[in-house]
Amino acid sequence: MKFAKPSNEPSRSYCVGSAERKLLKEAIKKIESEVAEIPLVINGEMVFTGDKGKVVMPHDHAHVLAVYHKAGAKDMRRAVEAANGAHKSWGTVPWTERAAIVLKIAELIDKKYRYILDAATMMGQSKTAWQAEIEAASETIDYLRYGAHCMTEIYSEQPSSEEGVINHIEYRPLEGFVYAVSPFNFTAIAANLPMAPVMMGNTVVWKPATTSLLSSWYLMKIFMEAGVPAGVLNFMPGPGSVGSGVVLASKELAGIHFTGSTQVFNSFWKGVADNLSLYRSYPRIVGETGGKDFVFIHNSADIKAAAAAILRGAFEYQGQKCSATSRAYVPASRWDELYAEFKSMMAEVKVGDPRDFRNFVNAVIDESSFDNCMEYLNYAKSAHDAEILFGGAGDKSVGYFVQPTIIKTTDPRFRTMEEEIFGPIVTLYVYDDDKYEETLKLCNETSPYGLTGSVFCTEREALAKADDILRYAAGNFYINDKTTGASVGLQPFGGSRGSGTNDKAGSKFNLMRWCSPRTVKENL
Ligand code: ALA
Repeated sequence: MKFAKPSNEPSRSYCVGSAERKLLKEAIKKIESEVAEIPLVINGEMVFTGDKGKVVMPHDHAHVLAVYHKAGAKDMRRAVEAANGAHKSWGTVPWTERAAIVLKIAELIDKKYRYILDAATMMGQSKTAWQAEIEAASETIDYLRYGAHCMTEIYSEQPSSEEGVINHIEYRPLEGFVYAVSPFNFTAIAANLPMAPVMMGNTVVWKPATTSLLSSWYLMKIFMEAGVPAGVLNFMPGPGSVGSGVVLASKELAGIHFTGSTQVFNSFWKGVADNLSLYRSYPRIVGETGGKDFVFIHNSADIKAAAAAILRGAFEYQGQKCSATSRAYVPASRWDELYAEFKSMMAEVKVGDPRDFRNFVNAVIDESSFDNCMEYLNYAKSAHDAEILFGGAGDKSVGYFVQPTIIKTTDPRFRTMEEEIFGPIVTLYVYDDDKYEETLKLCNETSPYGLTGSVFCTEREALAKADDILRYAAGNFYINDKTTGASVGLQPFGGSRGSGTNDKAGSKFNLMRWCSPRTVKENL
Protein backbone atom coordinates (compact mmCIF):
# COMPACT_ATOMS: atom_id res chain seq x y z
CA MET A 1 0.00 0.00 0.00
CA LYS A 2 1.23 3.50 -0.83
CA PHE A 3 0.26 6.94 0.38
CA ALA A 4 1.26 9.44 -2.29
CA LYS A 5 2.91 12.73 -1.42
CA PRO A 6 -0.01 15.01 -0.45
CA SER A 7 -0.38 18.68 -1.37
CA ASN A 8 -0.43 21.07 1.54
CA GLU A 9 -3.86 21.70 3.02
CA PRO A 10 -5.19 25.07 1.78
CA SER A 11 -6.09 27.54 4.54
CA ARG A 12 -9.50 29.23 4.79
CA SER A 13 -9.17 33.00 4.48
CA TYR A 14 -12.11 33.80 6.80
CA CYS A 15 -12.73 36.90 4.74
CA VAL A 16 -15.62 39.27 5.48
CA GLY A 17 -19.00 37.86 4.49
CA SER A 18 -17.76 34.30 3.92
CA ALA A 19 -19.70 31.27 5.15
CA GLU A 20 -16.56 29.97 6.86
CA ARG A 21 -16.27 33.18 8.89
CA LYS A 22 -19.81 32.68 10.15
CA LEU A 23 -19.00 29.10 11.16
CA LEU A 24 -15.84 30.19 12.94
CA LYS A 25 -17.74 32.88 14.85
CA GLU A 26 -20.30 30.29 15.96
CA ALA A 27 -17.46 28.07 17.19
CA ILE A 28 -15.97 31.01 19.12
CA LYS A 29 -19.37 31.63 20.75
CA LYS A 30 -19.51 28.00 21.82
CA ILE A 31 -16.01 28.14 23.32
CA GLU A 32 -16.85 31.39 25.15
CA SER A 33 -20.09 30.12 26.60
CA GLU A 34 -18.65 26.99 28.21
CA VAL A 35 -16.14 26.19 30.92
CA ALA A 36 -14.63 22.93 29.72
CA GLU A 37 -13.54 20.35 32.28
CA ILE A 38 -10.32 18.71 31.18
CA PRO A 39 -9.34 15.37 32.70
CA LEU A 40 -6.25 13.21 32.32
CA VAL A 41 -6.60 10.23 30.00
CA ILE A 42 -4.83 7.10 31.19
CA ASN A 43 -5.31 3.82 29.34
CA GLY A 44 -8.31 5.29 27.53
CA GLU A 45 -10.06 6.30 30.77
CA MET A 46 -10.75 9.85 31.85
CA VAL A 47 -9.28 10.58 35.27
CA PHE A 48 -10.46 13.49 37.42
CA THR A 49 -7.85 14.03 40.13
CA GLY A 50 -9.63 16.93 41.82
CA ASP A 51 -6.40 18.93 41.98
CA LYS A 52 -7.47 21.66 39.58
CA GLY A 53 -5.99 24.53 37.60
CA LYS A 54 -7.55 27.14 35.30
CA VAL A 55 -7.13 27.97 31.62
CA VAL A 56 -7.94 31.63 30.84
CA MET A 57 -8.08 33.75 27.69
CA PRO A 58 -4.75 35.60 27.48
CA HIS A 59 -6.55 38.61 25.94
CA ASP A 60 -9.30 38.63 28.58
CA HIS A 61 -7.80 36.93 31.60
CA ALA A 62 -10.88 37.22 33.80
CA HIS A 63 -12.58 34.81 31.41
CA VAL A 64 -12.01 31.19 32.43
CA LEU A 65 -12.18 28.84 29.44
CA ALA A 66 -11.54 25.58 31.23
CA VAL A 67 -10.57 23.92 34.47
CA TYR A 68 -8.15 21.06 34.19
CA HIS A 69 -7.17 18.24 36.47
CA LYS A 70 -3.50 18.01 37.34
CA ALA A 71 -1.55 14.79 37.14
CA GLY A 72 0.37 13.89 40.29
CA ALA A 73 3.28 11.46 40.60
CA LYS A 74 0.95 8.49 41.17
CA ASP A 75 -1.02 9.32 38.01
CA MET A 76 2.18 9.64 36.01
CA ARG A 77 3.28 6.21 37.18
CA ARG A 78 -0.06 4.79 36.01
CA ALA A 79 0.37 6.51 32.63
CA VAL A 80 3.84 4.98 32.25
CA GLU A 81 2.38 1.55 33.09
CA ALA A 82 -0.44 2.06 30.56
CA ALA A 83 2.04 3.04 27.84
CA ASN A 84 4.20 0.02 28.65
CA GLY A 85 1.13 -2.23 28.66
CA ALA A 86 0.07 -1.12 25.17
CA HIS A 87 3.58 -1.33 23.72
CA LYS A 88 3.48 -4.86 22.36
CA SER A 89 0.05 -4.71 20.72
CA TRP A 90 0.49 -1.26 19.13
CA GLY A 91 4.00 -2.04 17.99
CA THR A 92 2.80 -5.03 16.04
CA VAL A 93 -0.18 -3.40 14.35
CA PRO A 94 0.62 -3.23 10.59
CA TRP A 95 1.88 0.23 9.70
CA THR A 96 -0.87 0.63 7.10
CA GLU A 97 -3.47 0.33 9.87
CA ARG A 98 -1.67 2.96 11.91
CA ALA A 99 -1.48 5.21 8.86
CA ALA A 100 -5.23 4.78 8.32
CA ILE A 101 -5.86 6.13 11.84
CA VAL A 102 -3.49 9.03 11.17
CA LEU A 103 -5.37 9.89 7.98
CA LYS A 104 -8.67 9.59 9.81
CA ILE A 105 -7.48 12.22 12.32
CA ALA A 106 -6.61 14.52 9.41
CA GLU A 107 -10.03 13.98 7.90
CA LEU A 108 -11.83 14.65 11.19
CA ILE A 109 -9.95 17.95 11.59
CA ASP A 110 -10.59 18.91 7.98
CA LYS A 111 -14.28 18.04 7.83
CA LYS A 112 -15.66 18.01 11.36
CA TYR A 113 -13.51 19.88 13.89
CA ARG A 114 -11.72 22.56 11.87
CA TYR A 115 -13.70 25.53 13.22
CA ILE A 116 -13.77 24.42 16.84
CA LEU A 117 -10.03 23.67 16.80
CA ASP A 118 -9.30 27.07 15.26
CA ALA A 119 -11.62 28.76 17.77
CA ALA A 120 -10.03 26.95 20.73
CA THR A 121 -6.61 28.05 19.47
CA MET A 122 -7.75 31.65 18.98
CA MET A 123 -9.34 31.93 22.40
CA GLY A 124 -6.96 29.79 24.42
CA GLN A 125 -3.68 30.91 22.84
CA SER A 126 -4.72 34.39 21.64
CA LYS A 127 -4.27 33.98 17.91
CA THR A 128 -5.86 35.78 14.99
CA ALA A 129 -8.21 33.68 12.87
CA TRP A 130 -5.55 33.43 10.16
CA GLN A 131 -2.73 32.47 12.54
CA ALA A 132 -4.97 29.79 14.07
CA GLU A 133 -6.14 28.44 10.71
CA ILE A 134 -2.70 28.15 9.11
CA GLU A 135 -1.44 25.97 11.90
CA ALA A 136 -4.17 24.43 14.09
CA ALA A 137 -6.02 23.25 10.98
CA SER A 138 -3.71 23.29 7.94
CA GLU A 139 -0.34 22.48 9.50
CA THR A 140 -1.77 19.76 11.74
CA ILE A 141 -3.42 18.13 8.73
CA ASP A 142 -0.12 18.43 6.82
CA TYR A 143 1.85 16.73 9.61
CA LEU A 144 -0.57 13.83 9.54
CA ARG A 145 -0.99 13.38 5.77
CA TYR A 146 2.67 13.92 5.07
CA GLY A 147 3.50 11.59 7.94
CA ALA A 148 1.48 8.81 6.29
CA HIS A 149 3.40 9.43 3.06
CA CYS A 150 6.76 9.30 4.92
CA MET A 151 5.68 6.01 6.51
CA THR A 152 5.21 4.60 3.01
CA GLU A 153 8.75 5.61 2.12
CA ILE A 154 10.31 4.41 5.36
CA TYR A 155 8.65 1.02 5.49
CA SER A 156 9.23 0.25 1.82
CA GLU A 157 12.99 0.82 1.95
CA GLN A 158 14.70 -2.58 2.05
CA PRO A 159 18.25 -3.80 1.36
CA SER A 160 18.94 -6.06 -1.61
CA SER A 161 18.86 -9.80 -1.18
CA GLU A 162 21.49 -12.14 -2.60
CA GLU A 163 21.51 -15.62 -4.08
CA GLY A 164 20.24 -17.90 -1.31
CA VAL A 165 19.99 -15.05 1.20
CA ILE A 166 17.16 -12.76 2.15
CA ASN A 167 18.09 -9.44 3.80
CA HIS A 168 15.35 -7.54 5.47
CA ILE A 169 14.94 -4.53 7.75
CA GLU A 170 12.23 -4.64 10.33
CA TYR A 171 11.32 -1.12 11.41
CA ARG A 172 10.56 -1.81 15.05
CA PRO A 173 9.32 0.95 17.33
CA LEU A 174 11.65 1.89 20.21
CA GLU A 175 11.74 -0.59 23.06
CA GLY A 176 9.85 1.41 25.67
CA PHE A 177 7.63 4.48 25.78
CA VAL A 178 8.14 8.04 24.52
CA TYR A 179 7.58 11.16 26.62
CA ALA A 180 6.09 13.98 24.51
CA VAL A 181 6.15 17.47 26.01
CA SER A 182 4.40 20.09 23.90
CA PRO A 183 4.51 23.90 23.94
CA PHE A 184 1.71 26.48 23.99
CA ASN A 185 2.55 28.31 20.79
CA PHE A 186 1.45 25.88 18.06
CA THR A 187 -1.51 23.53 18.19
CA ALA A 188 0.11 21.73 15.24
CA ILE A 189 3.28 21.08 17.25
CA ALA A 190 1.15 19.88 20.17
CA ALA A 191 -0.39 17.38 17.72
CA ASN A 192 2.86 16.32 16.09
CA LEU A 193 4.97 15.74 19.20
CA PRO A 194 2.89 12.79 20.47
CA MET A 195 1.64 11.66 17.04
CA ALA A 196 5.02 11.27 15.31
CA PRO A 197 6.14 8.50 17.71
CA VAL A 198 2.61 7.03 17.75
CA MET A 199 2.65 6.77 13.93
CA MET A 200 5.87 4.79 14.15
CA GLY A 201 4.29 2.26 16.53
CA ASN A 202 5.36 3.74 19.87
CA THR A 203 3.27 4.38 22.94
CA VAL A 204 3.37 7.83 24.50
CA VAL A 205 2.92 9.74 27.73
CA TRP A 206 1.98 13.24 26.59
CA LYS A 207 2.37 16.31 28.80
CA PRO A 208 0.78 19.28 27.03
CA ALA A 209 1.50 22.88 28.07
CA THR A 210 -1.11 23.96 30.60
CA THR A 211 -1.69 27.41 29.05
CA SER A 212 -2.87 25.92 25.74
CA LEU A 213 -4.80 22.99 27.19
CA LEU A 214 -8.09 23.78 25.54
CA SER A 215 -6.83 23.07 22.00
CA SER A 216 -4.73 20.14 23.23
CA TRP A 217 -7.82 18.60 24.81
CA TYR A 218 -9.75 18.94 21.54
CA LEU A 219 -6.84 17.22 19.81
CA MET A 220 -6.84 14.38 22.32
CA LYS A 221 -10.57 13.83 21.83
CA ILE A 222 -10.09 13.76 18.05
CA PHE A 223 -7.22 11.25 18.36
CA MET A 224 -9.46 8.96 20.42
CA GLU A 225 -12.41 9.35 18.04
CA ALA A 226 -10.16 8.39 15.12
CA GLY A 227 -9.27 5.13 16.85
CA VAL A 228 -5.95 5.59 18.68
CA PRO A 229 -6.31 2.65 21.10
CA ALA A 230 -6.36 2.86 24.90
CA GLY A 231 -2.92 3.12 26.47
CA VAL A 232 -1.19 4.16 23.25
CA LEU A 233 -1.48 7.86 24.03
CA ASN A 234 -1.90 9.01 27.62
CA PHE A 235 -2.87 12.64 28.18
CA MET A 236 -1.23 14.10 31.29
CA PRO A 237 -1.67 17.83 31.98
CA GLY A 238 -0.04 19.10 35.15
CA PRO A 239 3.15 20.51 36.57
CA GLY A 240 6.15 19.60 34.44
CA SER A 241 8.47 19.01 37.36
CA VAL A 242 6.24 16.27 38.83
CA GLY A 243 5.63 14.52 35.51
CA SER A 244 9.20 14.68 34.31
CA GLY A 245 10.55 13.44 37.63
CA VAL A 246 8.54 10.23 37.31
CA VAL A 247 9.21 9.74 33.62
CA LEU A 248 12.95 10.31 33.77
CA ALA A 249 13.22 7.75 36.53
CA SER A 250 11.37 5.06 34.51
CA LYS A 251 13.52 2.31 33.12
CA GLU A 252 11.33 1.93 30.02
CA LEU A 253 11.88 5.53 28.92
CA ALA A 254 12.95 5.16 25.29
CA GLY A 255 12.59 8.68 23.92
CA ILE A 256 11.72 12.29 24.56
CA HIS A 257 9.99 14.45 21.95
CA PHE A 258 10.08 18.05 23.04
CA THR A 259 9.49 21.62 21.96
CA GLY A 260 9.88 24.39 24.51
CA SER A 261 12.48 26.30 26.46
CA THR A 262 16.21 25.61 26.40
CA GLN A 263 16.18 25.44 30.18
CA VAL A 264 13.64 22.59 30.30
CA PHE A 265 15.33 20.75 27.44
CA ASN A 266 18.66 20.96 29.25
CA SER A 267 17.03 19.59 32.39
CA PHE A 268 15.92 16.51 30.37
CA TRP A 269 19.45 15.87 29.17
CA LYS A 270 20.69 16.12 32.76
CA GLY A 271 17.88 13.88 34.02
CA VAL A 272 18.66 11.27 31.38
CA ALA A 273 22.38 11.43 32.21
CA ASP A 274 21.65 10.99 35.92
CA ASN A 275 19.52 7.91 35.26
CA LEU A 276 21.53 6.41 32.42
CA SER A 277 22.36 3.14 34.13
CA LEU A 278 18.65 2.57 34.74
CA TYR A 279 17.50 2.53 31.12
CA ARG A 280 17.34 -0.49 28.86
CA SER A 281 18.41 1.58 25.82
CA TYR A 282 19.86 5.04 25.35
CA PRO A 283 16.74 7.24 25.14
CA ARG A 284 16.36 9.20 21.90
CA ILE A 285 16.24 12.86 22.80
CA VAL A 286 14.64 14.94 20.07
CA GLY A 287 13.92 18.56 20.77
CA GLU A 288 13.49 22.03 19.47
CA THR A 289 14.09 24.94 21.80
CA GLY A 290 14.73 28.63 21.34
CA GLY A 291 15.87 30.97 18.64
CA LYS A 292 17.24 34.45 18.12
CA ASP A 293 16.20 34.56 14.51
CA PHE A 294 17.58 37.24 12.24
CA VAL A 295 16.91 39.17 9.08
CA PHE A 296 20.11 40.39 7.43
CA ILE A 297 19.68 43.05 4.76
CA HIS A 298 22.29 43.62 2.06
CA ASN A 299 22.36 46.99 0.33
CA SER A 300 21.03 45.41 -2.88
CA ALA A 301 17.83 44.30 -1.15
CA ASP A 302 14.21 45.02 -2.00
CA ILE A 303 13.56 47.20 1.06
CA LYS A 304 9.78 47.12 0.98
CA ALA A 305 9.87 43.31 0.98
CA ALA A 306 12.44 43.29 3.78
CA ALA A 307 10.37 45.69 5.90
CA ALA A 308 7.24 43.56 5.49
CA ALA A 309 9.22 40.41 6.32
CA ILE A 310 10.62 41.95 9.51
CA LEU A 311 7.22 43.14 10.70
CA ARG A 312 5.43 39.90 9.89
CA GLY A 313 8.23 37.76 11.29
CA ALA A 314 8.47 39.81 14.47
CA PHE A 315 4.82 40.57 15.23
CA GLU A 316 2.61 37.79 13.87
CA TYR A 317 1.51 35.76 16.87
CA GLN A 318 3.15 38.39 19.09
CA GLY A 319 6.65 37.14 18.28
CA GLN A 320 5.91 33.88 20.08
CA LYS A 321 6.95 31.58 17.26
CA CYS A 322 10.31 29.95 17.81
CA SER A 323 11.00 31.16 14.26
CA ALA A 324 10.06 34.81 14.99
CA THR A 325 12.39 37.56 13.77
CA SER A 326 13.95 39.19 16.81
CA ARG A 327 17.02 40.93 15.41
CA ALA A 328 17.83 42.60 12.11
CA TYR A 329 20.91 44.04 10.43
CA VAL A 330 20.41 47.02 8.15
CA PRO A 331 22.94 48.70 5.83
CA ALA A 332 23.30 52.42 6.63
CA SER A 333 22.69 53.42 3.00
CA ARG A 334 19.16 51.92 3.11
CA TRP A 335 18.15 52.91 6.64
CA ASP A 336 16.01 55.96 5.78
CA GLU A 337 14.05 53.98 3.23
CA LEU A 338 13.47 51.12 5.64
CA TYR A 339 12.39 53.49 8.39
CA ALA A 340 9.88 55.15 6.04
CA GLU A 341 8.41 51.72 5.20
CA PHE A 342 8.15 50.85 8.89
CA LYS A 343 6.37 54.12 9.58
CA SER A 344 3.70 53.56 7.01
CA MET A 345 3.27 49.84 7.80
CA MET A 346 3.21 50.28 11.59
CA ALA A 347 0.37 52.79 11.26
CA GLU A 348 -1.80 49.88 10.05
CA VAL A 349 -0.90 47.43 12.82
CA LYS A 350 -3.76 47.02 15.27
CA VAL A 351 -3.40 45.42 18.68
CA GLY A 352 -6.23 43.81 20.61
CA ASP A 353 -8.59 40.93 21.16
CA PRO A 354 -8.65 38.26 18.41
CA ARG A 355 -12.45 38.33 18.44
CA ASP A 356 -12.09 41.60 16.56
CA PHE A 357 -10.76 40.19 13.29
CA ARG A 358 -9.10 43.50 12.35
CA ASN A 359 -6.46 43.09 15.07
CA PHE A 360 -3.11 41.85 13.84
CA VAL A 361 -1.39 41.49 17.22
CA ASN A 362 -3.15 39.86 20.18
CA ALA A 363 -2.04 39.14 23.74
CA VAL A 364 1.06 37.28 24.89
CA ILE A 365 0.33 33.97 26.54
CA ASP A 366 0.39 34.79 30.25
CA GLU A 367 1.48 37.15 32.98
CA SER A 368 5.02 35.88 33.29
CA SER A 369 5.50 36.31 29.55
CA PHE A 370 4.09 39.83 29.78
CA ASP A 371 6.36 40.72 32.72
CA ASN A 372 9.36 39.30 30.90
CA CYS A 373 8.64 41.51 27.85
CA MET A 374 8.22 44.57 30.08
CA GLU A 375 11.49 43.86 31.80
CA TYR A 376 13.29 43.95 28.42
CA LEU A 377 11.41 47.09 27.38
CA ASN A 378 12.35 48.88 30.60
CA TYR A 379 15.95 47.80 30.14
CA ALA A 380 15.98 49.19 26.57
CA LYS A 381 14.36 52.43 27.71
CA SER A 382 17.05 53.05 30.29
CA ALA A 383 20.01 52.09 28.07
CA HIS A 384 22.07 54.86 26.48
CA ASP A 385 22.87 52.81 23.36
CA ALA A 386 19.28 51.96 22.40
CA GLU A 387 16.24 53.85 21.20
CA ILE A 388 12.64 52.67 21.00
CA LEU A 389 11.30 53.64 17.58
CA PHE A 390 7.82 52.13 17.84
CA GLY A 391 5.85 50.67 20.76
CA GLY A 392 7.59 50.14 24.07
CA ALA A 393 4.56 49.87 26.37
CA GLY A 394 2.19 47.22 27.63
CA ASP A 395 -1.07 46.85 29.52
CA LYS A 396 -2.14 43.78 31.46
CA SER A 397 -5.32 45.13 33.05
CA VAL A 398 -7.67 43.12 30.79
CA GLY A 399 -5.35 40.96 28.72
CA TYR A 400 -1.58 40.59 28.41
CA PHE A 401 -1.04 43.13 25.65
CA VAL A 402 2.46 44.20 24.69
CA GLN A 403 2.76 46.81 21.96
CA PRO A 404 4.72 45.68 18.92
CA THR A 405 8.10 47.25 19.54
CA ILE A 406 11.05 48.16 17.34
CA ILE A 407 14.29 48.98 19.14
CA LYS A 408 17.29 50.47 17.35
CA THR A 409 20.70 49.99 18.94
CA THR A 410 24.23 51.12 18.22
CA ASP A 411 25.61 48.07 20.05
CA PRO A 412 25.44 44.85 17.98
CA ARG A 413 25.79 42.93 21.25
CA PHE A 414 22.96 44.78 22.99
CA ARG A 415 21.02 42.46 25.31
CA THR A 416 17.94 42.37 23.09
CA MET A 417 20.15 41.47 20.08
CA GLU A 418 21.38 38.39 21.94
CA GLU A 419 18.71 37.02 24.26
CA GLU A 420 15.47 35.32 23.29
CA ILE A 421 12.48 37.34 24.53
CA PHE A 422 9.49 35.48 23.01
CA GLY A 423 7.38 38.59 22.56
CA PRO A 424 6.62 41.24 19.91
CA ILE A 425 10.00 42.96 20.19
CA VAL A 426 12.59 43.25 17.43
CA THR A 427 15.97 45.00 17.65
CA LEU A 428 17.78 46.56 14.69
CA TYR A 429 21.43 47.28 14.23
CA VAL A 430 22.53 49.60 11.42
CA TYR A 431 25.92 48.69 9.94
CA ASP A 432 28.34 50.47 7.59
CA ASP A 433 27.81 49.13 4.07
CA ASP A 434 31.53 48.43 3.66
CA LYS A 435 31.44 46.19 6.75
CA TYR A 436 29.09 43.63 5.20
CA GLU A 437 31.30 40.59 5.74
CA GLU A 438 32.35 41.66 9.21
CA THR A 439 28.70 42.16 10.20
CA LEU A 440 27.75 38.76 8.81
CA LYS A 441 30.39 37.25 11.10
CA LEU A 442 28.97 39.21 13.99
CA CYS A 443 25.47 37.95 13.19
CA ASN A 444 26.78 34.39 13.17
CA GLU A 445 28.46 34.78 16.55
CA THR A 446 25.96 36.93 18.42
CA SER A 447 23.49 34.35 19.66
CA PRO A 448 23.87 30.78 20.92
CA TYR A 449 20.96 29.64 18.72
CA GLY A 450 20.71 28.36 15.15
CA LEU A 451 17.04 28.11 14.22
CA THR A 452 15.90 30.46 11.43
CA GLY A 453 17.42 33.37 9.58
CA SER A 454 16.91 35.29 6.40
CA VAL A 455 19.04 37.31 4.01
CA PHE A 456 17.60 39.97 1.73
CA CYS A 457 19.96 40.40 -1.18
CA THR A 458 19.82 40.47 -4.98
CA GLU A 459 23.55 40.12 -5.76
CA ARG A 460 24.76 36.55 -6.19
CA GLU A 461 28.25 37.14 -4.88
CA ALA A 462 27.10 38.89 -1.72
CA LEU A 463 24.54 36.16 -1.21
CA ALA A 464 27.20 33.45 -1.52
CA LYS A 465 29.17 35.18 1.24
CA ALA A 466 26.14 35.22 3.52
CA ASP A 467 25.38 31.61 2.69
CA ASP A 468 28.90 30.59 3.66
CA ILE A 469 29.35 32.67 6.82
CA LEU A 470 25.87 31.85 8.14
CA ARG A 471 26.05 28.14 7.30
CA TYR A 472 25.24 26.98 10.85
CA ALA A 473 23.45 30.13 12.01
CA ALA A 474 20.08 28.78 10.85
CA GLY A 475 18.63 25.31 10.24
CA ASN A 476 15.92 27.05 8.20
CA PHE A 477 17.63 29.62 6.01
CA TYR A 478 15.53 31.97 3.90
CA ILE A 479 16.59 34.11 0.97
CA ASN A 480 14.37 37.14 0.39
CA ASP A 481 11.64 35.83 2.67
CA LYS A 482 10.51 36.09 6.30
CA THR A 483 11.93 33.83 9.01
CA THR A 484 8.59 32.22 9.88
CA GLY A 485 6.09 30.01 8.11
CA ALA A 486 7.93 26.82 7.18
CA SER A 487 5.50 24.36 5.57
CA VAL A 488 5.45 20.63 6.23
CA GLY A 489 6.86 18.69 3.28
CA LEU A 490 8.31 21.84 1.70
CA GLN A 491 10.66 23.34 4.29
CA PRO A 492 11.38 20.68 6.97
CA PHE A 493 11.80 22.58 10.22
CA GLY A 494 14.49 22.68 12.90
CA GLY A 495 17.85 24.09 13.88
CA SER A 496 21.00 23.08 15.68
CA ARG A 497 23.32 24.84 18.15
CA GLY A 498 21.23 25.96 21.16
CA SER A 499 18.02 25.54 19.14
CA GLY A 500 17.79 21.78 19.41
CA THR A 501 18.69 18.51 17.80
CA ASN A 502 17.63 19.56 14.28
CA ASP A 503 15.65 16.43 13.54
CA LYS A 504 13.37 18.32 11.16
CA ALA A 505 9.79 18.15 12.39
CA GLY A 506 7.34 16.72 9.87
CA SER A 507 9.91 14.81 7.86
CA LYS A 508 11.32 11.33 7.39
CA PHE A 509 14.35 12.36 9.50
CA ASN A 510 12.13 12.94 12.49
CA LEU A 511 10.01 9.82 12.04
CA MET A 512 13.13 7.67 11.74
CA ARG A 513 14.10 8.74 15.26
CA TRP A 514 11.09 6.82 16.55
CA CYS A 515 12.16 3.45 15.25
CA SER A 516 14.84 0.99 16.18
CA PRO A 517 15.45 -1.04 13.02
CA ARG A 518 16.36 -4.72 13.17
CA THR A 519 18.35 -6.14 10.28
CA VAL A 520 17.52 -9.76 9.52
CA LYS A 521 19.67 -12.00 7.30
CA GLU A 522 18.11 -15.34 6.45
CA ASN A 523 20.01 -18.09 4.63
CA LEU A 524 17.61 -20.05 2.47
N1 ALA B 1 6.78 26.03 11.46
C1 ALA B 1 6.78 27.24 12.20
C2 ALA B 1 7.41 28.35 11.45
O1 ALA B 1 8.21 28.11 10.59
C3 ALA B 1 7.45 27.06 13.52
O2 ALA B 1 7.14 29.48 11.74
